[in-house]
Amino acid sequence: MGPPSPELVRVADKAAMARTGADLLLARIAENAGRIAICLTGGSSPKQLYELLATQAYRDRIPWPRVHWFIGDERFVPAGDALHNMTMARHAFLDACAPAANIHPIPTDTGSPERSANAYARELITFYGADQLDPARPLFDVVLLGIGPDGHVASLFPGYPAVEVRDRWVVGVDQAHVAPFVPRVSLTLPALASCRTMLFEVAGADKQPILTRVLAGEDLPANRARSTHETTFLIDAAAWPETAAD
Ligand code: 6PG
Repeated sequence: MGPPSPELVRVADKAAMARTGADLLLARIAENAGRIAICLTGGSSPKQLYELLATQAYRDRIPWPRVHWFIGDERFVPAGDALHNMTMARHAFLDACAPAANIHPIPTDTGSPERSANAYARELITFYGADQLDPARPLFDVVLLGIGPDGHVASLFPGYPAVEVRDRWVVGVDQAHVAPFVPRVSLTLPALASCRTMLFEVAGADKQPILTRVLAGEDLPANRARSTHETTFLIDAAAWPETAAD
């Protein structure tokens, strides 16, 4: 039996998407009385959600000392660069709210994406406490993802070898398929799948064509990325495909 089919949730606009996403994140956090691991995503879609987490109403409901923040992929640029995914998340909420030791960026000062991938894999394995993923004990509570215009997720581009990697948790990706054209470091599909909830955020009219293809079941990374437990797509009205039922 494969992973459960994703649930499609239609929201009005980007602001509603941020609220719904933040509420779901908080619900999952509340379900876990122990250590919590969240895997963030880059791109522009999650920024509003991140900013919402820093507002008093949300901030007060997050047990910050127990929550650890990872990133699903990173552009191979120095920390602090405008393209750096974890820097965006830091500015949006992490630096103001999370203990520094609970922020787990992918290092980009190692000299090569491959070395960075190996360093991050070691960090994840140490955090998890094993080098084999047990489906009954997911690595992450929540994995956030966006969908690229070509159907990529994290930095796993369609037709590129990184999509097929099953025996590693993190890989170096020397060439990006869409902008920004910088090398990347990305978690692999098995590492991303090891979560209680995988939450996609897809917003804006420019996402409608790729979402139509994804929902038609095309073999794209966005269709191969599924939680072993629960996957939810938050889709705003502008991105909602005409072919999808309301
Ligand atoms: C990255 C991302 C990437 C992103 C999608 C969607 O580093 O670029 O992690 O996978 O999530 O391309 O991006 P938008 O949210 O900007 O549409």
